[in-house]
Amino acid sequence: MELPFSFSCWLLSMFVLFLSASPGLLCARHPPELSLRASSVDTAKGQAEMLIRRLNLFPKHGINLVRDDDESLQSVSGIVEKQVELRILGDPGSSVQDLGHHACYYRLPHTVGARMFYFFFESRNSKDDPVVIWLTGGPGCSSELALFYENGPYQITGNLSLEWNDYGWDRASNLIYVDQPTGTGFSYSTNKGDIRTNETSVSNDLYDFLQGFFEAHPEFSGNDFYITGESYAGHYIPAFASRVHQGNIRKEGIHINLKGIAIGNGLTNPAIQFKAFPDFALANKLIQESDYDNIKALVPDCVKQANSCDSNGDDEVCLSAYSSCINIFNSIVKIAGNVNYYDIRKTCQGQLCYDFSRADSFLNQDTVKKALGVGNIGWVACGVAVYEALQADWMKNYDKGIPTLLESGIRVHIYAGEEDLICNWLGNSWWVNEIKWSGRKQFLAAPIVPFNVGGAKTGELKEHGILSFLKVYKAGHLVPMDQPKAALQMLKTWMQGKLS
Ligand SMILES: *[C@@H]1O[C@H](CO)[C@@H](O)[C@H](O)[C@H]1NC(C)=O
Ligand SMILES: *[C@@H]1O[C@H](CO)[C@@H](O)[C@H](O)[C@H]1NC(C)=O
Repeated sequence: MELPFSFSCWLLSMFVLFLSASPGLLCARHPPELSLRASSVDTAKGQAEMLIRRLNLFPKHGINLVRDDDESLQSVSGIVEKQVELRILGDPGSSVQDLGHHACYYRLPHTVGARMFYFFFESRNSKDDPVVIWLTGGPGCSSELALFYENGPYQITGNLSLEWNDYGWDRASNLIYVDQPTGTGFSYSTNKGDIRTNETSVSNDLYDFLQGFFEAHPEFSGNDFYITGESYAGHYIPAFASRVHQGNIRKEGIHINLKGIAIGNGLTNPAIQFKAFPDFALANKLIQESDYDNIKALVPDCVKQANSCDSNGDDEVCLSAYSSCINIFNSIVKIAGNVNYYDIRKTCQGQLCYDFSRADSFLNQDTVKKALGVGNIGWVACGVAVYEALQADWMKNYDKGIPTLLESGIRVHIYAGEEDLICNWLGNSWWVNEIKWSGRKQFLAAPIVPFNVGGAKTGELKEHGILSFLKVYKAGHLVPMDQPKAALQMLKTWMQGKLS
């Protein structure tokens, strides 16, 4: 079995196979003409087919492109928020009356016709809690996957009702989930030129969105603000945080009270993280000693090419780096067999590694779409066109912006479920050790201390000042899904500066 890295780290990516438009939907019929590159498509197709089955997700489209005259969407300009009225089972455990749950569109200003969809959940604890934004990876996967399977206020039951999640991150924050980059989830555009190809554009859109959000919610603009996310968000988050920081320095708009960033099982520094694959795989007995030497021999070329992608930035160089590095991952997965590479404790059962089909069924119901105010737009769990458009971004290194954030007092927290292969804790710990900041020596010398949740040792923490690294036990790629209580405690104590 051969699964490409390209359909993985960037959790849950969907591809070219289920794109024929159904009648009644106004989405583009052949979206992936956007920036498909011949080099990757042929193999991508077969591998995508396999992966789609493995995640049990079936988006009808590769992206949401709509016609200008779609009447169901004409009212969307500026910000449009809608109080969500969905019945939720169980007890919110909330002291807050009149919980605000909003589903919203924001008209992105620096685009031809893009609208970014987001959910905004006011804190179940207090409106004075920090504002936290969550970004799912992909690239191209909807943040609703995290909302319903990881850290949102509610989860979807077997009969497609909603029930309160005791460990939703809205218990400690005013929580935003955005569908981005444009084309992901319920986000859409009238023009395919709005599809983003680099982190500069991605982070500019996110910055514009924050400006629009705080303009609409001035009562929250003084709150502390944190950026969080997972997987490919290891790219988005440092770029976005740097953009916010610059905007603050240049006094571009509303000051964003950015206090910290947290990345879970992310891909941030590919050259270092790919180097860690053979070591992680051997230590976890996914490969033998004899395989190790062979696979390790692939590392120098990958590192060399990734570094030249990063310094040169040319698309061709970056795509070639990608091919070289992907070899390392593919070789391991080939030997490891049907292991779930998001959680090596698990195997894939038949065709399925994870089953996220409830989100697909739930969000595409007419009653739900009406409650969310999304018109005729269908929910795209993971968008192939968004993914393909960012192909040359994959091998670039995004840890370079982090020293500036640290020196400016912005907290940086990197965490990783220890059972994830694809964005494993080892590679993440290596790049964190390499961050060139004033506290580096002390960070390297800092002791590893237990991270306790309810009296049980749930992970290992290393920190110095405002940089922290947490390895979470008994968790794969999706830490808040596997260890919900630990993840909520992590968020809460980290924001209070009391992780240890
Ligand atoms: C759906 O399932 C939940 C528990 O999972 C149950 O409480 C509820 O009554 C069920 N609703 C319907 C309509 O069957
Ligand atoms: C990023 O993409 C935009 C188009 O969306 C382009 O104008 C810009 O030059 C690109 N920036 C970089 C750094 O590649």
